[in-house]
Amino acid sequence: MRRYTEMVQGSRCIAMFVLVCMAARGASAITDGLLPNGNFEQAPSKSEMNGTRVTGRYAIPCWEIAGSVEYIVSGQNQGDMVLPVPEGAYAVRLGNGASVQQQLSVTPGTHYSVTFSAARTCAQAAKLDVTVAPDSDELPIQTVYTSSGWDSYSWAFQAKDGVVSLVVRNPGVTDEDAACGPLLDAFAVRTLLPPQRNADNMLANGDFEEGPYIFPNTAWGVLVPPMDEDGYSPLHPWMILSTTKSVKYVDAAHYAVPRGARAVELVSGAESALVQEVGTVPGRAYRMEFSVGDGADGCAGSLAVEAYAASGRVKVPYESSGTGGYKRGVLDFTAAEERTRVVFVSVYYNMKPDGTLCGPVVDDASLVSAESHARRLL
Ligand SMILES: *[C@@H]1O[C@H](CO)[C@@H](O)[C@H](O)[C@H]1NC(C)=O
Repeated sequence: MRRYTEMVQGSRCIAMFVLVCMAARGASAITDGLLPNGNFEQAPSKSEMNGTRVTGRYAIPCWEIAGSVEYIVSGQNQGDMVLPVPEGAYAVRLGNGASVQQQLSVTPGTHYSVTFSAARTCAQAAKLDVTVAPDSDELPIQTVYTSSGWDSYSWAFQAKDGVVSLVVRNPGVTDEDAACGPLLDAFAVRTLLPPQRNADNMLANGDFEEGPYIFPNTAWGVLVPPMDEDGYSPLHPWMILSTTKSVKYVDAAHYAVPRGARAVELVSGAESALVQEVGTVPGRAYRMEFSVGDGADGCAGSLAVEAYAASGRVKVPYESSGTGGYKRGVLDFTAAEERTRVVFVSVYYNMKPDGTLCGPVVDDASLVSAESHARRLL
Protein backbone atom coordinates (compact mmCIF):
# COMPACT_ATOMS: atom_id res chain seq x y z
CA MET A 1 0.00 0.00 0.00
CA ARG A 2 2.78 2.40 1.01
CA ARG A 3 4.69 1.59 -2.15
CA TYR A 4 1.65 2.28 -4.29
CA THR A 5 1.29 5.71 -2.68
CA GLU A 6 4.95 6.46 -3.24
CA MET A 7 4.64 5.43 -6.87
CA VAL A 8 1.67 7.73 -7.40
CA GLN A 9 3.48 10.58 -5.69
CA GLY A 10 6.58 9.77 -7.73
CA SER A 11 4.79 9.95 -11.05
CA ARG A 12 2.93 13.13 -10.06
CA CYS A 13 6.32 14.56 -9.23
CA ILE A 14 7.68 13.69 -12.68
CA ALA A 15 4.62 15.22 -14.34
CA MET A 16 5.03 18.39 -12.29
CA PHE A 17 8.71 18.71 -13.03
CA VAL A 18 8.18 18.06 -16.72
CA LEU A 19 5.56 20.81 -16.73
CA VAL A 20 7.68 23.25 -14.76
CA CYS A 21 10.85 22.51 -16.68
CA MET A 22 9.19 22.58 -20.06
CA ALA A 23 7.04 25.63 -19.26
CA ALA A 24 10.24 27.40 -18.28
CA ARG A 25 11.34 27.02 -21.87
CA GLY A 26 8.15 28.65 -23.11
CA ALA A 27 7.70 26.20 -25.95
CA SER A 28 6.44 22.69 -26.50
CA ALA A 29 9.61 21.53 -28.24
CA ILE A 30 13.11 22.04 -26.98
CA THR A 31 15.16 25.00 -28.19
CA ASP A 32 18.90 25.12 -28.81
CA GLY A 33 21.01 25.94 -25.78
CA LEU A 34 21.19 25.12 -22.09
CA LEU A 35 18.68 22.52 -20.85
CA PRO A 36 16.36 23.52 -18.00
CA ASN A 37 18.64 23.59 -14.95
CA GLY A 38 21.24 22.10 -17.31
CA ASN A 39 24.01 23.71 -15.25
CA PHE A 40 22.58 22.49 -11.90
CA GLU A 41 22.46 26.03 -10.54
CA GLN A 42 19.02 25.36 -9.01
CA ALA A 43 19.98 23.45 -5.89
CA PRO A 44 18.22 20.60 -4.11
CA SER A 45 16.65 21.58 -0.78
CA LYS A 46 18.76 20.87 2.32
CA SER A 47 16.13 18.38 3.50
CA GLU A 48 16.93 16.20 0.49
CA MET A 49 20.69 16.16 1.07
CA ASN A 50 22.97 14.33 3.46
CA GLY A 51 26.26 16.19 3.39
CA THR A 52 27.04 16.54 -0.32
CA ARG A 53 24.96 13.51 -1.21
CA VAL A 54 21.56 14.04 -2.83
CA THR A 55 19.02 11.74 -1.18
CA GLY A 56 15.80 12.59 -3.02
CA ARG A 57 15.25 11.09 -6.44
CA TYR A 58 13.67 14.31 -7.75
CA ALA A 59 15.59 16.67 -5.43
CA ILE A 60 17.54 18.47 -8.19
CA PRO A 61 14.99 20.58 -10.10
CA CYS A 62 14.29 19.23 -13.62
CA TRP A 63 16.42 16.13 -13.04
CA GLU A 64 15.85 12.61 -11.81
CA ILE A 65 18.76 10.82 -10.18
CA ALA A 66 19.56 7.21 -9.33
CA GLY A 67 22.36 5.87 -7.15
CA SER A 68 24.97 7.91 -5.35
CA VAL A 69 24.91 11.45 -6.75
CA GLU A 70 26.78 14.28 -5.03
CA TYR A 71 26.01 17.96 -5.41
CA ILE A 72 29.34 19.77 -5.79
CA VAL A 73 30.04 23.42 -5.02
CA SER A 74 32.81 25.14 -6.97
CA GLY A 75 36.06 25.17 -5.02
CA GLN A 76 35.07 22.16 -2.88
CA ASN A 77 38.05 20.09 -1.80
CA GLN A 78 38.62 16.44 -2.46
CA GLY A 79 41.75 15.36 -0.62
CA ASP A 80 44.33 17.91 -1.76
CA MET A 81 42.47 18.59 -5.00
CA VAL A 82 40.19 21.59 -5.47
CA LEU A 83 37.23 20.87 -7.73
CA PRO A 84 36.51 23.73 -10.14
CA VAL A 85 33.15 23.99 -11.91
CA PRO A 86 33.00 25.16 -15.54
CA GLU A 87 29.56 26.82 -15.59
CA GLY A 88 28.17 28.68 -12.60
CA ALA A 89 28.97 27.44 -9.11
CA TYR A 90 27.49 23.92 -9.02
CA ALA A 91 27.94 20.53 -10.66
CA VAL A 92 27.13 16.90 -9.86
CA ARG A 93 29.31 13.86 -9.35
CA LEU A 94 28.17 10.38 -10.30
CA GLY A 95 29.22 7.51 -8.05
CA ASN A 96 29.57 4.00 -9.44
CA GLY A 97 26.38 2.99 -11.24
CA ALA A 98 24.77 6.38 -10.54
CA SER A 99 22.89 8.35 -13.18
CA VAL A 100 21.14 11.63 -13.88
CA GLN A 101 18.34 11.96 -16.39
CA GLN A 102 16.09 14.61 -17.82
CA GLN A 103 13.01 14.40 -20.02
CA LEU A 104 13.22 16.35 -23.25
CA SER A 105 10.30 17.46 -25.35
CA VAL A 106 11.41 16.90 -28.95
CA THR A 107 10.14 16.44 -32.50
CA PRO A 108 9.96 12.77 -33.52
CA GLY A 109 12.29 11.94 -36.41
CA THR A 110 14.53 14.95 -35.80
CA HIS A 111 18.19 14.54 -34.89
CA TYR A 112 19.64 16.36 -31.91
CA SER A 113 23.08 16.64 -30.43
CA VAL A 114 23.72 16.87 -26.73
CA THR A 115 26.68 18.79 -25.30
CA PHE A 116 27.80 18.47 -21.69
CA SER A 117 30.94 19.11 -19.67
CA ALA A 118 32.63 16.33 -17.74
CA ALA A 119 35.75 16.01 -15.62
CA ARG A 120 37.53 12.94 -14.48
CA THR A 121 38.49 13.12 -10.78
CA CYS A 122 40.81 10.50 -9.27
CA ALA A 123 39.88 7.50 -11.45
CA GLN A 124 42.43 6.93 -14.24
CA ALA A 125 39.92 6.11 -16.94
CA ALA A 126 36.31 7.09 -16.68
CA LYS A 127 33.47 6.29 -19.03
CA LEU A 128 29.96 7.59 -19.30
CA ASP A 129 27.00 5.78 -20.81
CA VAL A 130 24.80 8.23 -22.65
CA THR A 131 21.35 7.01 -23.65
CA VAL A 132 18.27 8.32 -25.35
CA ALA A 133 16.49 5.03 -25.93
CA PRO A 134 17.00 3.14 -28.15
CA ASP A 135 20.32 4.89 -28.94
CA SER A 136 23.14 4.41 -26.45
CA ASP A 137 26.90 4.84 -26.44
CA GLU A 138 29.78 4.66 -24.04
CA LEU A 139 31.88 7.83 -24.16
CA PRO A 140 35.52 7.61 -23.05
CA ILE A 141 36.42 10.36 -20.53
CA GLN A 142 40.05 9.47 -19.92
CA THR A 143 42.26 11.99 -21.69
CA VAL A 144 42.41 15.57 -20.53
CA TYR A 145 42.28 18.01 -23.44
CA THR A 146 42.06 21.20 -21.36
CA SER A 147 44.20 22.57 -18.57
CA SER A 148 41.12 23.05 -16.35
CA GLY A 149 40.49 19.30 -16.40
CA TRP A 150 36.98 19.85 -17.76
CA ASP A 151 36.11 18.92 -21.30
CA SER A 152 32.87 19.31 -23.19
CA TYR A 153 31.57 16.21 -24.98
CA SER A 154 28.94 15.80 -27.64
CA TRP A 155 26.65 12.99 -28.67
CA ALA A 156 23.76 12.74 -31.12
CA PHE A 157 20.47 10.86 -31.29
CA GLN A 158 17.33 10.68 -33.37
CA ALA A 159 14.11 11.35 -31.45
CA LYS A 160 11.79 8.35 -31.71
CA ASP A 161 9.06 9.95 -29.59
CA GLY A 162 7.72 13.37 -28.58
CA VAL A 163 9.20 13.06 -25.10
CA VAL A 164 12.49 11.24 -24.59
CA SER A 165 14.73 10.67 -21.57
CA LEU A 166 18.36 11.68 -21.75
CA VAL A 167 20.23 9.46 -19.29
CA VAL A 168 23.92 9.82 -18.38
CA ARG A 169 25.26 7.03 -16.20
CA ASN A 170 28.64 6.21 -14.68
CA PRO A 171 29.13 2.50 -15.36
CA GLY A 172 32.18 2.59 -13.03
CA VAL A 173 33.52 -0.58 -11.51
CA THR A 174 32.41 -1.25 -7.94
CA ASP A 175 35.85 -1.86 -6.43
CA GLU A 176 36.89 1.68 -7.31
CA ASP A 177 36.42 4.48 -4.79
CA ALA A 178 32.92 5.85 -5.40
CA ALA A 179 34.25 9.36 -4.68
CA CYS A 180 36.38 9.03 -7.84
CA GLY A 181 33.37 9.23 -10.13
CA PRO A 182 33.24 11.86 -12.89
CA LEU A 183 31.80 15.36 -12.45
CA LEU A 184 29.11 16.61 -14.83
CA ASP A 185 27.89 20.10 -15.66
CA ALA A 186 26.39 22.32 -18.36
CA PHE A 187 24.01 20.24 -20.47
CA ALA A 188 22.77 21.73 -23.75
CA VAL A 189 21.13 20.50 -26.94
CA ARG A 190 21.17 21.60 -30.54
CA THR A 191 18.86 20.54 -33.37
CA LEU A 192 20.86 19.06 -36.25
CA LEU A 193 19.61 20.04 -39.69
CA PRO A 194 19.62 17.35 -42.41
CA PRO A 195 22.84 17.52 -44.47
CA GLN A 196 22.70 19.38 -47.78
CA ARG A 197 24.79 18.47 -50.79
CA ASN A 198 25.14 20.82 -53.73
CA ALA A 199 26.52 20.67 -57.25
CA ASP A 200 29.77 22.33 -56.19
CA ASN A 201 30.61 19.86 -53.47
CA MET A 202 29.95 16.13 -53.17
CA LEU A 203 30.75 16.34 -49.46
CA ALA A 204 27.93 17.38 -47.17
CA ASN A 205 28.83 19.60 -44.21
CA GLY A 206 32.23 20.05 -45.88
CA ASP A 207 32.68 23.32 -44.00
CA PHE A 208 31.76 21.72 -40.65
CA GLU A 209 29.23 24.47 -39.95
CA GLU A 210 26.62 21.94 -38.78
CA GLY A 211 27.56 20.36 -35.48
CA PRO A 212 27.06 20.19 -31.74
CA TYR A 213 26.20 23.16 -29.52
CA ILE A 214 29.18 25.17 -28.29
CA PHE A 215 28.54 27.36 -25.24
CA PRO A 216 29.36 30.98 -26.15
CA ASN A 217 31.36 31.28 -22.90
CA THR A 218 33.40 28.07 -23.14
CA ALA A 219 36.78 28.63 -24.71
CA TRP A 220 37.77 24.98 -25.16
CA GLY A 221 35.50 23.74 -27.97
CA VAL A 222 33.54 20.48 -27.85
CA LEU A 223 34.96 17.00 -28.21
CA VAL A 224 33.28 14.72 -30.71
CA PRO A 225 33.99 11.20 -29.48
CA PRO A 226 34.34 8.12 -31.69
CA MET A 227 31.13 6.35 -32.56
CA ASP A 228 29.69 3.16 -33.99
CA GLU A 229 29.58 3.35 -37.76
CA ASP A 230 25.79 2.93 -37.73
CA GLY A 231 25.33 5.70 -35.16
CA TYR A 232 24.49 9.32 -35.95
CA SER A 233 27.41 11.68 -35.50
CA PRO A 234 27.04 15.22 -34.08
CA LEU A 235 29.07 16.21 -37.18
CA HIS A 236 26.93 14.15 -39.55
CA PRO A 237 27.69 12.91 -42.16
CA TRP A 238 31.28 13.10 -40.90
CA MET A 239 32.13 10.19 -38.60
CA ILE A 240 34.86 9.95 -35.98
CA LEU A 241 36.43 6.51 -36.20
CA SER A 242 38.72 5.45 -33.37
CA THR A 243 38.68 3.09 -30.44
CA THR A 244 38.72 5.80 -27.77
CA LYS A 245 40.06 9.08 -29.15
CA SER A 246 38.04 12.18 -30.02
CA VAL A 247 38.38 15.18 -32.29
CA LYS A 248 37.65 18.71 -31.13
CA TYR A 249 34.98 20.93 -32.67
CA VAL A 250 36.06 24.57 -32.43
CA ASP A 251 34.34 27.94 -32.96
CA ALA A 252 35.57 31.17 -34.54
CA ALA A 253 34.80 33.06 -31.29
CA HIS A 254 37.68 31.30 -29.53
CA TYR A 255 39.87 29.79 -32.27
CA ALA A 256 41.24 30.72 -35.66
CA VAL A 257 38.89 29.03 -38.12
CA PRO A 258 39.88 29.02 -41.84
CA ARG A 259 36.32 29.61 -43.11
CA GLY A 260 32.91 30.20 -41.57
CA ALA A 261 32.25 29.84 -37.86
CA ARG A 262 33.35 26.27 -37.12
CA ALA A 263 36.15 23.80 -37.87
CA VAL A 264 37.63 20.56 -36.52
CA GLU A 265 40.93 20.28 -34.63
CA LEU A 266 42.50 16.81 -34.91
CA VAL A 267 43.74 16.46 -31.32
CA SER A 268 44.48 12.72 -31.19
CA GLY A 269 47.23 12.16 -33.76
CA ALA A 270 46.66 9.23 -36.10
CA GLU A 271 44.47 7.50 -33.51
CA SER A 272 41.32 9.25 -34.60
CA ALA A 273 40.07 9.58 -38.18
CA LEU A 274 37.60 12.12 -39.53
CA VAL A 275 35.73 10.24 -42.26
CA GLN A 276 32.94 10.84 -44.76
CA GLU A 277 31.60 8.30 -47.21
CA VAL A 278 30.41 9.54 -50.61
CA GLY A 279 28.87 7.94 -53.68
CA THR A 280 31.43 7.69 -56.50
CA VAL A 281 31.72 6.17 -59.99
CA PRO A 282 34.44 3.48 -60.17
CA GLY A 283 37.22 4.55 -62.53
CA ARG A 284 36.32 8.25 -62.36
CA ALA A 285 38.89 10.79 -61.15
CA TYR A 286 38.08 13.11 -58.24
CA ARG A 287 39.75 16.03 -56.56
CA MET A 288 39.34 17.01 -52.92
CA GLU A 289 40.53 20.38 -51.65
CA PHE A 290 40.67 21.38 -47.99
CA SER A 291 42.25 23.78 -45.51
CA VAL A 292 44.89 22.80 -42.96
CA GLY A 293 45.87 25.30 -40.29
CA ASP A 294 46.19 25.97 -36.60
CA GLY A 295 43.51 27.21 -34.24
CA ALA A 296 45.56 30.05 -32.69
CA ASP A 297 45.37 28.08 -29.45
CA GLY A 298 49.11 27.83 -28.84
CA CYS A 299 49.53 24.60 -30.77
CA ALA A 300 52.96 25.44 -32.18
CA GLY A 301 55.45 23.33 -34.13
CA SER A 302 55.28 20.89 -37.02
CA LEU A 303 51.69 19.92 -37.69
CA ALA A 304 50.58 17.78 -40.62
CA VAL A 305 47.36 16.34 -41.96
CA GLU A 306 47.22 13.22 -44.06
CA ALA A 307 44.21 12.88 -46.35
CA TYR A 308 43.37 9.75 -48.26
CA ALA A 309 40.65 8.23 -50.41
CA ALA A 310 40.76 5.06 -52.54
CA SER A 311 44.47 4.68 -53.43
CA GLY A 312 45.09 8.44 -53.32
CA ARG A 313 47.04 9.85 -50.40
CA VAL A 314 48.56 13.22 -49.60
CA LYS A 315 50.41 14.62 -46.62
CA VAL A 316 50.01 18.34 -46.00
CA PRO A 317 52.67 19.68 -43.60
CA TYR A 318 51.96 22.94 -41.80
CA GLU A 319 54.46 24.85 -39.66
CA SER A 320 52.49 26.44 -36.87
CA SER A 321 53.46 29.35 -34.66
CA GLY A 322 50.26 28.70 -32.72
CA THR A 323 48.75 32.04 -33.67
CA GLY A 324 46.44 31.07 -36.55
CA GLY A 325 46.74 30.68 -40.31
CA TYR A 326 46.13 27.96 -42.86
CA LYS A 327 47.02 26.61 -46.28
CA ARG A 328 45.12 24.62 -48.89
CA GLY A 329 45.71 20.93 -49.53
CA VAL A 330 44.73 18.91 -52.61
CA LEU A 331 44.06 15.19 -52.91
CA ASP A 332 43.57 13.61 -56.35
CA PHE A 333 42.27 10.06 -56.52
CA THR A 334 40.46 7.63 -58.80
CA ALA A 335 37.46 5.90 -57.27
CA ALA A 336 37.60 2.11 -57.14
CA GLU A 337 34.14 1.53 -55.65
CA GLU A 338 30.64 2.98 -55.72
CA ARG A 339 31.22 4.33 -52.26
CA THR A 340 34.49 5.96 -51.25
CA ARG A 341 35.61 7.10 -47.84
CA VAL A 342 37.56 10.31 -47.61
CA VAL A 343 39.69 10.36 -44.48
CA PHE A 344 41.63 12.99 -42.52
CA VAL A 345 44.12 12.16 -39.77
CA SER A 346 46.76 14.16 -37.94
CA VAL A 347 50.20 12.75 -38.75
CA TYR A 348 51.80 13.74 -35.43
CA TYR A 349 50.87 13.90 -31.77
CA ASN A 350 51.05 17.55 -30.81
CA MET A 351 50.94 19.12 -27.39
CA LYS A 352 50.65 22.65 -26.06
CA PRO A 353 53.16 23.99 -23.54
CA ASP A 354 50.61 23.28 -20.75
CA GLY A 355 50.67 19.57 -21.64
CA THR A 356 47.22 19.36 -23.20
CA LEU A 357 46.67 17.66 -26.54
CA CYS A 358 46.25 19.67 -29.72
CA GLY A 359 46.69 19.34 -33.45
CA PRO A 360 46.01 20.74 -36.92
CA VAL A 361 42.68 22.30 -37.80
CA VAL A 362 40.81 20.98 -40.85
CA ASP A 363 38.12 23.03 -42.57
CA ASP A 364 36.39 23.89 -45.82
CA ALA A 365 36.66 20.51 -47.59
CA SER A 366 35.19 20.12 -51.06
CA LEU A 367 35.10 17.19 -53.43
CA VAL A 368 34.33 17.29 -57.14
CA SER A 369 34.82 14.91 -60.04
CA ALA A 370 37.84 15.90 -62.09
CA GLU A 371 35.63 16.39 -65.16
CA SER A 372 33.41 18.93 -63.45
CA HIS A 373 36.52 20.57 -62.01
CA ALA A 374 38.00 20.94 -65.51
CA ARG A 375 34.66 22.26 -66.80
CA ARG A 376 34.61 24.93 -64.10
CA LEU A 377 38.06 26.13 -65.05
CA LEU A 378 37.05 26.65 -68.71
C1 LIG B 1 23.95 10.46 6.32
O1 LIG B 1 25.05 9.67 5.87
C2 LIG B 1 25.75 9.06 6.91
C3 LIG B 1 27.00 8.41 6.32
O2 LIG B 1 26.68 7.62 5.19
C4 LIG B 1 24.85 8.08 7.63
O3 LIG B 1 25.54 7.45 8.69
C5 LIG B 1 23.64 8.83 8.18
O4 LIG B 1 22.73 7.92 8.75
C6 LIG B 1 22.95 9.62 7.08
N1 LIG B 1 21.92 10.46 7.63
C7 LIG B 1 20.66 10.43 7.27
C8 LIG B 1 19.76 11.40 7.92
O5 LIG B 1 20.26 9.65 6.41
